[in-house]
Amino acid sequence: MNRFKDKIVLVTGGSRNTGLYIVKKFAEEGARVFMCGSTQESTQKGAEILASWGLQGIRSVPCDVSRADQVKNLFDIIEKEAGHLDILVNNAAHQGIGKPFVEMAPDYLMEVLGVNVRGGFQVTQQAVTRFFLKQPEKGAVVFLSSNTAQRAIRNRTAYCASKGAINAMVRSLALDLAPLGIRVNACAPGYIYTERWDVLPEEKKQRRRLNCPLRHEATGTDIANVVAFLASSDSSNMTGEIITCDAGCSCQHMPEDVDL
Ligand SMILES: NC(=O)c1ccc[n+]([C@@H]2O[C@H](COP(=O)([O-])OP(=O)(O)OC[C@H]3O[C@@H](n4cnc5c(N)ncnc54)[C@H](OP(=O)(O)O)[C@@H]3O)[C@@H](O)[C@H]2O)c1
Repeated sequence: MNRFKDKIVLVTGGSRNTGLYIVKKFAEEGARVFMCGSTQESTQKGAEILASWGLQGIRSVPCDVSRADQVKNLFDIIEKEAGHLDILVNNAAHQGIGKPFVEMAPDYLMEVLGVNVRGGFQVTQQAVTRFFLKQPEKGAVVFLSSNTAQRAIRNRTAYCASKGAINAMVRSLALDLAPLGIRVNACAPGYIYTERWDVLPEEKKQRRRLNCPLRHEATGTDIANVVAFLASSDSSNMTGEIITCDAGCSCQHMPEDVDL
């Protein structure tokens, strides 16, 4: 398929893990992709991985999405170099790992919300006001949410709260922007294989897989496929939708081994 031929796409958090596969998907389907990581070093590292996969013409620009000045700089570069934007994927995330609620400083909550909620908000606002509103084809926005917005996981209060806020923001943006012809949707993954799985003992990986009715976590490509669908004209009558892609985790009450 070549659904994104000559489209200009921005993927935030394109420097590692799932973001790399989202960038790859759009590039392979003909898009010209801009991507960012949060720092110069991580963005460069991501660019090197993408180049090693044989992907050409990907423009990497460091941008901490929680910082308005850096977001503005990223969009200045897109405006100067492409003068156009068709698709925005808000993938960048602060995972908010490792802080139980009783030890979580409110400032840490704000740090996570700063990346996941404020970041997505201000990147989307730039995309809409600087590009989508001025173009005949209005563009599409896809957020990466999480199934933890609906079903919480332990010791991730800030992260779960941020993903719940993203779901509400997606619906709100969808309503506000629909009359302008701009669509806003989300993909809500469950387990995805990332570099964080590489260091897990095999037993733990298998236990996680047992939590999945389909018996397997998503690959980056599985998630990229859903994102691409939501960004493409294949979903042209959809907005405000949150598609769960979690191997069936959210539809079960208990995992198989305890469902006695
Ligand atoms: N992994 C899962 O199992 C899972 C499950 C459900 C939902 N999700 C969601 O799916 C998306 C991708 O997940 P993932 O596990 O691949 O993410 P990840 O491994 O944590 O990577 C996050 C990406 O976001 C970037 N990022 C972090 N803070 C940033 C900031 N302030 N400004 C710009 N970029 C920033 C990182 O860049 P650096 O390289 O600079 O850090 C990296 O490229 C996320 O939205 C995540 O919440 C993931």
